[in-house]
Amino acid sequence: MTDAERQKQAVGQAAAELVRNGMVVGLGTGSTAKWFVEAVAARKLDLSCVPTSVETAHLATRLGLRLIEMDAVERIDITVDGADEIGPDLALIKGGGGALLREKLVWAVSDRCVVIADGSKHVARLGAFPLPIEVVPFGHRTTAARIRDVLHASGIDGPLRLRMDGSVPRVTDNGNLIYDAQCGAIDDPGTLAARLKATTGVVEHGIFFGMATEGLLGTDGEVRRLTR
Ligand code: 5RP
Repeated sequence: MTDAERQKQAVGQAAAELVRNGMVVGLGTGSTAKWFVEAVAARKLDLSCVPTSVETAHLATRLGLRLIEMDAVERIDITVDGADEIGPDLALIKGGGGALLREKLVWAVSDRCVVIADGSKHVARLGAFPLPIEVVPFGHRTTAARIRDVLHASGIDGPLRLRMDGSVPRVTDNGNLIYDAQCGAIDDPGTLAARLKATTGVVEHGIFFGMATEGLLGTDGEVRRLTR
């Protein structure tokens, strides 16, 4: 196992210890969240779980966790999920795995949102990782042109690329498409988040600003707790 994988395992297991019997739990998506899902399933608690992707739903079902519909609950006690970058104040880039929309919907109704990651994800400034932006398929190239204008207005002029699966566009669990914006540096994630959210055709973007309540970061030898 690589050091990074060991760190993912450690933070996934540490996060599983935060879960209590009877809780409604949001299950994140990705290779780090997978460790959490496995660790929480191994605890054999009585839980109701809301997965953030079809992939996580399959994993959780295989592990014997009870899944419930998102609309069956008003609040989720705790959600644990990975991130592509963790910046200052726990501002995040998410969506590398393409699940950003369901992730944000689940996070938005969660009392505790715990981001877990290996140490490489902790950055001084967001933006080296391409920012995923989910758009509706209809007229997506015209939406992309509007996104470019929004990025320019924020001083970002890196490439904006339609995410592909080989020769065809990647389709999300929600039937949408994803553009990845190479931002380089995002100086003001809150403003960029608001501008993207206001763009016609954009369903959601991967900036999670003011959403994570805490973080667990892998380091060599220990799990470091991050707060806002
Ligand atoms: C999926 C996500 C993931 O949490 C993010 O991409 C991190 O994934 P990994 O833990 O595999 O590095 O946001 O949409």
